[in-house]
Amino acid sequence: MRVILSEDSQTSAVPLSFFERIAQAAVLLEGLDKPMFLSLTLTDDAGIRAVNRQWRYQDTATDVISFPAINFSPRDTASLRQALPADAWDSDESAHFLGDIVISLPRAKSQAEEYGHGVERELSYLFVHGVMHLMGYDHQNPEDKIKMRDMEEKALAGAANMDNDDRALVQAAWKAREYAYTPYSNYKVGSALRAKSGKIYTGCNIENAAFGLTNCAERTALFKAISVGDIEFDAIAISADATPPWPCGACRQALSEFAPNIRVLISWSDGKENAEATLDQLLPHSFLNFVEDGK
Ligand code: THU
Repeated sequence: MRVILSEDSQTSAVPLSFFERIAQAAVLLEGLDKPMFLSLTLTDDAGIRAVNRQWRYQDTATDVISFPAINFSPRDTASLRQALPADAWDSDESAHFLGDIVISLPRAKSQAEEYGHGVERELSYLFVHGVMHLMGYDHQNPEDKIKMRDMEEKALAGAANMDNDDRALVQAAWKAREYAYTPYSNYKVGSALRAKSGKIYTGCNIENAAFGLTNCAERTALFKAISVGDIEFDAIAISADATPPWPCGACRQALSEFAPNIRVLISWSDGKENAEATLDQLLPHSFLNFVEDGK
């Protein structure tokens, strides 16, 4: 799940990955397993007022506004669609566009003070609210409002849990690296792939005297999982030595067959350095053999 910060955004106190984690938790909770992205604009009161005036004919500042790109509704939310409309597919991003979210940063700050919590917390509430709107949730009637609030809380809890689970996954990748068989390159790689079932499959690179037979750590883990019937994944951690171990092209393509928007967590320099991206960021325009609905 990719969040694109629009060009006229103001600097935020929180990194983009903070928003991406929440959006990812929200789409996972909804069961939306296609590559998706959304745009986020962080502006000031004058900026959000101009947007509100231009598109909603309301000449007032507010905290968050969302513009869904797909016409979901409370009884037809994103997960209930077999296929997403073809015009939601963006070939530049190789993902479906969910829509735009606009947030006023000064408003987030003043509301945070009012409620006595941090600006991060307030931004997370405003953002997850916007994401739910993009997926069809609404608060027009009490019943829908309860459902939307419930989804928001669950998505935020999911995003918070992700931190703990991610740490365990990265640890598993470091442990798996100990088994790397690398007499030729001496470059050891470990990986840990988390299935949606919750199971973790580990892998290491396995070299061979006939060099071309080498199997990367990522594909070792992937093939272990596939071969026991676990085929849905949400994250893969990869660990290696001194340089950032972004997966090679072959592993990106192999992973994209099963999990085109999987989160890729890399760890290097004994775990002192860490980074994260989604697979659709690492492999735009991947080879697909079934393009009908853009999947
Ligand atoms: N390798 C991996 O395990 N994963 C990658 O994504 C790139 C490379 C391994 C293969 C080989 O054993 C060693 O790193 C040097 O290329």
